Amino acid sequence: MAKTRLACLLTLLSTHCYFTALAVVLKTSDEFPSTDEFSKVELSCLIESISTINPRIEWKKIINNKPSYVYFDKKISGDLENRAVIREPATLVITNATRSDTAKYRCEVTAADDTKSFDEIVIDLVVRVKPVVPKCSVPKSVPFGKTAELSCVEEEGFPKSQYQWFKNNEEIPNDPKTSPKFFNSSYTLNTGTGTLTFTAVRKEDAGDYHCRAKNDAGQAQCAPQNMEVYDIDIVGIVLGVLVVIIVLLCITVGICCAYKQGYCSSPKQTGNK
Ligand SMILES: *[C@@H]1O[C@H](CO)[C@@H](O)[C@H](O)[C@H]1NC(C)=O
Ligand SMILES: *[C@@H]1O[C@H](CO)[C@@H](O)[C@H](O)[C@H]1NC(C)=O
Repeated sequence: MAKTRLACLLTLLSTHCYFTALAVVLKTSDEFPSTDEFSKVELSCLIESISTINPRIEWKKIINNKPSYVYFDKKISGDLENRAVIREPATLVITNATRSDTAKYRCEVTAADDTKSFDEIVIDLVVRVKPVVPKCSVPKSVPFGKTAELSCVEEEGFPKSQYQWFKNNEEIPNDPKTSPKFFNSSYTLNTGTGTLTFTAVRKEDAGDYHCRAKNDAGQAQCAPQNMEVYDIDIVGIVLGVLVVIIVLLCITVGICCAYKQGYCSSPKQTGNK
């Protein structure tokens, strides 16, 4: 500051320099800071040039274009009270960030004695949140050749989780064609939604499946669940046997009835006669 002023005098108040000296100008060392939840983070607001001794410094948090005070009248206010401090000259330090701190913040400096007496700078803060254990759904038993859908969801993670599936503790590749082991499998894997879909399950697809949700803050996984693939032929055989039994039952019942009727009607007929 002093240097700038000296330079101004030396260049006999060239207009450019005059403007620089009597203007408040802000800058930041990081416009897009990010941190993990429950950590410390700095919203850097540096004063590059100013002439006013006691500038007014304010911070606002902006959600859906609506500003609310965070620092005003030399006090931290609102949700950040007891969790933030100002570091000279105007940097806002959040000591224990929470997920609700993810927002845009505006540092505003008013310098009454400067010609250009106001400047502001917007900082975009992201607080990363670890995924929680995902809810996983694996069908217990699927008939051979049929479709099967395995799902995996977790809603806490920020940024949004990406998903990986594992079969018998081995990661399933995004594209089965890229692995000799999974080459003939019919699945498609959506890493954004966590859905693993088989269009036609094979015997070889049976196994223990589990899923992992992952983002920049961490990861979490569900316990393995077994998927069994049963042979449709066995079902056919079972059904066939059942049909035979039912037919046999019907015949037996039929014979019984006929016999009973005959038995019952014969005394009647005899009685009539
Ligand atoms: C940060 O805040 C969380 C939740 O309010 C609390 O459990 C944790 O102890 C705090 N951590 C520190 C270092 O203050
Ligand atoms: C995939 O199928 C082809 C043709 O049926 C077969 O020759 C090959 O061995 C199979 N590969 C695996 C890994 O099962």
